[in-house]
Amino acid sequence: MNIDKLKKEIDLELGKLKTDADCVAFHQKYLSKSGEVTLLMTSLRDIEPSKRAEAGATFNALKKQTEERLFKTQREIKEREQYMKLMAEPVIDITRGGMGGNAPYGLHPITIISREVEDVFMNMGFVIEDGNEIATEYECFDSLNSPAGHPSRDMQDTFWLSDGRCLRTQTSAWQNYMMKKYGPVFKAICPGRTYRNENLDATHDTTFFQVEGMMIGEDISISNLIYFMKQALTAVFKRDIKVRLRPGYFPFVEPGFELDASCIFCKDGCPICKGTGWIEFCGCGMIHPHVLREGGIDPTKYQGFAFGFGLTRLAMMRWGIKDIRLFNSGNLEFLKGGAK
Ligand code: FA5
Repeated sequence: MNIDKLKKEIDLELGKLKTDADCVAFHQKYLSKSGEVTLLMTSLRDIEPSKRAEAGATFNALKKQTEERLFKTQREIKEREQYMKLMAEPVIDITRGGMGGNAPYGLHPITIISREVEDVFMNMGFVIEDGNEIATEYECFDSLNSPAGHPSRDMQDTFWLSDGRCLRTQTSAWQNYMMKKYGPVFKAICPGRTYRNENLDATHDTTFFQVEGMMIGEDISISNLIYFMKQALTAVFKRDIKVRLRPGYFPFVEPGFELDASCIFCKDGCPICKGTGWIEFCGCGMIHPHVLREGGIDPTKYQGFAFGFGLTRLAMMRWGIKDIRLFNSGNLEFLKGGAK
């Protein structure tokens, strides 16, 4: 197709988007694997070799622009739809007492630990954010320096949706949105549910919780990362926790680390820390310049750190829960124990 004609058509169609469903249909038509913009790349092979590089750059720019414009429009539409929905709801008096009777159980362990972690980070000046559980391929991978075909994608078995989006495999999918929302100076965390198509065992579930954290600004260094992680773990476990970093690979951080916390169960080694005195706690590192650029932040001026830890695994450590499958089992005895 003629690219100018396609650009005009996209402009026109973007202007017509009114609902989230329209945005999904737009994504399908232009940006999905069989979408018209994506197919432009396939048509490169029919272009004369000397003109391919230029055409490729033009096609890529169109894809990126279209994605960004759709992303922005979809956010605005969603916010508007949510507002309209709220306005249409009957007023509920949340201060009214209950209907009587003794509710025998309490909050889910994940709710309890999530609130604790939120309090700890809020006290250190972090904003608490909520991210979408359904992410675009761009949010979950491309914006995180993991383009299609990159081996790093194999690290996370993904549940893909038929429209090309996915159930987020990591709360890192929220990083790009945050940078675009807050700009180059902020610190925030995002706790939330994540999904991976994994075999179940005592420590792996398909549905689990993570907490993502980011701090961006001028002169941010690894020392800031160590400081905040140490403070946070010490506050959550209510005792002095030491942290150490080992090299680790995640495409969106450079340098990247695995952060270990000193074992909370022993002093000199126990079966839980496998006799080492350290427990693997999370992935982290300095945000890769490419990721900052994708978020609209100039990496020559600003730096930041990011971390992502398993909230479900943290709850397991906290209450000595041996099997992760209990969290989603609906087992009331477990809920009663966990919430105490
Ligand atoms: C990540 O998901 C990275 N996004 C973390 C990160 C963020 C690194 C920012 C650097 C910067 P990883 O795949 O290791 O990394 O998962 C993070 C944590 O999620 C793990 O340490 C673990 O606690 C938890 N986790 C991962 N898979 C599962 C699973 N199937 N069940 C339960 N918990 C899981």
